[in-house]
Amino acid sequence: MSNTGGNQVTNPLFNPFHAGNLELSNRIVMAPMTRSGSPGGVPGENVAEYYKRRAENGVGLIVTEGTVINHPAATGDPNVPRFHGEDALSGWKKVVEAVHSVGGRIIPQIWHVGTDRKIGDSPNPEALPIGPSGINIFGEKVVEPMTEAEIAQVIAAYAQAAADAKRIGFDGVEIHGAHGYLIDQFFWERTNKRTDKYGGDMLGRTRFAVEVIEACRKAVGPDFPIVFRFSQWKSSVYTAKLAETPELLGQFLAPLVEAGVDVFHCSTRRFWEPEFEGSDLNLAGWTKKLTGKPTITVGSVGLDTDFMSGFTEGKGASNTNIDGLLERLDRGEFDLVAVGRALLVDPAWANKIREGRLDELVPFSTEALRTLA
Ligand SMILES: Cc1cc2nc3c(=O)[nH]c(=O)nc-3n(C[C@H](O)[C@H](O)[C@H](O)COP(=O)(O)O)c2cc1C
Repeated sequence: MSNTGGNQVTNPLFNPFHAGNLELSNRIVMAPMTRSGSPGGVPGENVAEYYKRRAENGVGLIVTEGTVINHPAATGDPNVPRFHGEDALSGWKKVVEAVHSVGGRIIPQIWHVGTDRKIGDSPNPEALPIGPSGINIFGEKVVEPMTEAEIAQVIAAYAQAAADAKRIGFDGVEIHGAHGYLIDQFFWERTNKRTDKYGGDMLGRTRFAVEVIEACRKAVGPDFPIVFRFSQWKSSVYTAKLAETPELLGQFLAPLVEAGVDVFHCSTRRFWEPEFEGSDLNLAGWTKKLTGKPTITVGSVGLDTDFMSGFTEGKGASNTNIDGLLERLDRGEFDLVAVGRALLVDPAWANKIREGRLDELVPFSTEALRTLA
């Protein structure tokens, strides 16, 4: 790359994308980030403005922070937005309208934390946490395993959330199946010790997610985009793996595809890390190769200090910098690029990249977590 001729360098990021009904003006996705800025679970005007600022500054698709389904133990934080109750849903409708008013696209990430919730947490301190085997991600038993009736109730709550996403005008829905929360607790052997149809081998452990996806698909019809986010790693257990080999990853993904996923959001902490030995492909690359579905990559985009060196004359490309990312996008390893912290700290990140205004980029600082700027 010769210089800051940003247009040439950034082209693949600014190509339009479409999959089914999901039509995006470019490939930049705002990653879902919990902000705990919705007192009483209701997203307010400030939340709408926060997302609108990213949309009007060139983000192709916003995935909202995790927003919880209608189950009393879905979160342990009263400031995390709900995705149920007319007060919260009308707050979300205003968020959608704000983002659409500037030509943006937005989907909610629907979430249940499972045994990540502590006993006695607000809201609903009387509600016990739930999980496939009542085990938390550290392997400790905290409650009894979910009954089949509870499983059915929670699946219905996911489906209702998906239906509500469509009803209030969102452009799709993302199901949070990553990072060691409820759905991932079914996937992972450490947290799923069930011996019924929801446990055991890979097929059994994916069954809950399959039923969630099928119920959501039924609730929204064939054309409403369903994105499914998953990860090998868990919050606090970064070395965890659901699939040690490409074969196992294929076994994991096949039933999810069959159930109706349109796009996979493959959560990794560093986009440049190969997922398995013997290939450069990252998790999003493998997922696309194995399923044929579009994928979103994520992980430290724009955070590495070397990231922008590809824009600077004389410096070579490295795997971690913008060139490495764009080359991969260009050759179709994945389709979309989610950006978390860089967009949290700098609402104008996408436009600055597009226009080559790199000296104006704001470096990430944890200070930014305190406000919804
Ligand atoms: C403050 C913060 C909150 C997050 N909350 C969520 C969340 O609600 N749901 C989710 O799937 N991931 C969540 N993540 C993970 C991000 O979506 C993303 O995968 C991660 O930050 C890596 O991307 P980055 O390196 O571009 O920040 C969160 C990350 C941060 C920094």
